[in-house]
Amino acid sequence: MRTQRSFQVRLASRPDGIPNREHWEIGWTDINSPSDGEVLIETAFISIDPAMRGWLREAKSYLPPVAIGEVMRAGGVGTVIASKHPDFREGEQVVGHTGVQTHALVPGGTLRKVNDNVAPLPAFLGPLGIPGLTAYFGMTEVGAVKQGDTVLVSAAAGAVGSIAGQIALNLGARRVVGSAGSDEKCRHIVEDLGFDAAINYKTEALGERISERCPEGLDVYFDNVGGDILDAALAHLRIRARVVLCGAISQYNDLEEVQGPRNYLSLLVRRARMQGFIVSDYAEQYGRAAEEIGGWLEAGTLNYRNTIVRGLETFPETFQRIFTGEKLGKLLIQVV
Ligand SMILES: NC(=O)c1ccc[n+]([C@@H]2O[C@H](COP(=O)([O-])OP(=O)(O)OC[C@H]3O[C@@H](n4cnc5c(N)ncnc54)[C@H](OP(=O)(O)O)[C@@H]3O)[C@@H](O)[C@H]2O)c1
Repeated sequence: MRTQRSFQVRLASRPDGIPNREHWEIGWTDINSPSDGEVLIETAFISIDPAMRGWLREAKSYLPPVAIGEVMRAGGVGTVIASKHPDFREGEQVVGHTGVQTHALVPGGTLRKVNDNVAPLPAFLGPLGIPGLTAYFGMTEVGAVKQGDTVLVSAAAGAVGSIAGQIALNLGARRVVGSAGSDEKCRHIVEDLGFDAAINYKTEALGERISERCPEGLDVYFDNVGGDILDAALAHLRIRARVVLCGAISQYNDLEEVQGPRNYLSLLVRRARMQGFIVSDYAEQYGRAAEEIGGWLEAGTLNYRNTIVRGLETFPETFQRIFTGEKLGKLLIQVV
């Protein structure tokens, strides 16, 4: 096989705050042919996720940090172009940790087969991928949503939040309200996704709006954001409410000065619980969850949007959109 080249985005230095172009090194590199157990993938779409910010930090979290000079870690979907793993053949479509690159050598054991006859490839990085599974387990297992509940979801026009709110609706929640950062996003979650109401956290008073739009209080708060909205939600819990700590994007760029919850005593008074989780805790149940999500997609009771940017060379600016909010639904880079 002739030498394979890969266009790659590598970490050049560790950022303070929101990363910009100077923190990345972008260019072509020769890569090896697959060794035993490996698969060579031509990537089609790369997933851009808030978690990537955490992987840039020196400190280990639930995964080790990306090293300086290493290809940036990312989920991706693409086509096998060479394989030395018995389970994968040339031409098959797969999803896994490809990294931000056009061609990736990946251990076959970490890949999952997908098929664009079942759903468009981006869906395997959205509702049928990590964001959808995160929404599913966060809402069903951690939030334990049940019929008649009132649910608030933050970052509700994003990849996880948009699915989380609709899962709550599918499971019989009485009222689902979402917060988002623009009037257009607020309109979208109500008119296109079926949320009962929305709050523009940039222009509206959070506490007042939660009281008005969830007058009986919250049974479940699904938190993607942390900071002020977490505090506002804590002040509106019902007895035995569940606060799902899925993420805290408002805090990711300054972990030295994390804004902790001031209203945590509400957990005591309301006999409520607040619980964090990592989606991979539920890896053994991904198949069952993806099937249920697939059923809702087919039935039309779960909808999603993608924001697709073309070209890996746009990665530095595309990644910033996670923090500026210039996107709707799942943010992806289309590689070719
Ligand atoms: N626990 C897990 O296993 C797990 C797995 C996947 C994701 N997550 C977490 O889930 C959350 C959502 O992830 P996602 O992939 O769905 O991202 P996303 O919601 O699609 O994108 C992030 C959104 O957050 C909002 N945002 C950014 N900065 C903000 C700020 N300072 N204050 C309030 N909102 C802000 C923006 O929307 P607006 O325009 O509305 O501001 C932006 O579009 C993240 O916190 C992520 O870390 C957790």
